[in-house]
Amino acid sequence: MAHPLPFPPPLAPGALPTALAPMQDVTGLAFMRLLGRYGPPDVFFTEYFRVHPHSTLEPHILDAIRLHGTGRPVFAQLIGESRPHLRRSALELQAYPVAGIDLNLGCPAPKVCRKNVGGGLLRAPAAVDGILAELRACITGRLTVKMRVGFEDARHFAALLELINRHGVDALSVHGRTVRQMYRGEVDYGLIRLACRSVACPVLANGNITSARTAMAVQADTGCHGVMVGRSAIRNPWIFRQIRELSTGRPVFRPVLEDVRRYVDDLWQALAAPGLPEPFLLGRMKKFLNFVGLGVDPAGAFLHAMRHARGAAELFSICDAHLLAGGRAGSHFPDEPYPELVARPNAEAAPC
Ligand SMILES: Cc1cc2nc3c(=O)[nH]c(=O)nc-3n(C[C@H](O)[C@H](O)[C@H](O)COP(=O)(O)O)c2cc1C
Repeated sequence: MAHPLPFPPPLAPGALPTALAPMQDVTGLAFMRLLGRYGPPDVFFTEYFRVHPHSTLEPHILDAIRLHGTGRPVFAQLIGESRPHLRRSALELQAYPVAGIDLNLGCPAPKVCRKNVGGGLLRAPAAVDGILAELRACITGRLTVKMRVGFEDARHFAALLELINRHGVDALSVHGRTVRQMYRGEVDYGLIRLACRSVACPVLANGNITSARTAMAVQADTGCHGVMVGRSAIRNPWIFRQIRELSTGRPVFRPVLEDVRRYVDDLWQALAAPGLPEPFLLGRMKKFLNFVGLGVDPAGAFLHAMRHARGAAELFSICDAHLLAGGRAGSHFPDEPYPELVARPNAEAAPC
């Protein structure tokens, strides 16, 4: 089979293609289903399957692949360094309804990088060469890669892009930061542009795509095939619909804070699972609301109050106070996050 294979077509012909970025503990079945109702991305990427000598495919990620019911294609992501075990996992995954298999070359978590997997592999192009050869030989469908621009700097970036071509990778997502930058600092769209010019396959631009307007600007700047959105899809679950609307010249949906309040209820219901204790659900909910709060008020009053909520009732009354009371319900939820706010003061501890 000749590669690259065509990327799955967008839901709306002519629209800028979109992907939900893989995010550990976020982009699971519940969030995929919820996005399916709010306006799904053109394609999904799962959180990563960890691959090592004793690994088995994690059932909750397989459930996301099998049961999301959005009608959109799903790419399954792998993270690992062992060629035989990556091969074994890729072969097993091909029995599931996946649009392709994605290799993680970007995760910056120190415990991951120490083992030379994820972003750690960006220091070792020779190892990446071997892994891509192994995966290309056993994956008959799409093999895709998600990478950062380098570990400490972009010294191996051009060599890595050559490997993408040499191994017939079918699509490349580029997060325009180094591993050292974690999730902060400037995204280098110039390097994403370089990737778009250098590789034969479609490129998805990733990193700080915060609104439909930003998505269009990044596409114009880099020439990317499509955009991959992570944290801003948690803050604004309408973002994929908005990108679709803006890029096809249709009126763009503008949510108000009352819509955000309903989103909070939907999230709570989506994340609740039978037997899940309330404190655990509250913790999961706060993780999502940390991102939603970036668009609620510029001073971060909602974020501050929400983080201190001790139970569901208190959390919901804080949401009512900040999203509905005092005539707020009809105020527009801003397209962009308030720049002075930080979602997770401990972003450095993020799992990937
Ligand atoms: C909570 C969280 C979990 C993540 N998990 C993964 C992951 O499993 N695999 C991966 O390739 N990237 C992961 N990432 C990185 C995102 O896919 C994305 O590259 C990054 O957040 C930049 O995009 P954004 O600015 O649109 O959020 C994660 C990011 C966050 C914030």
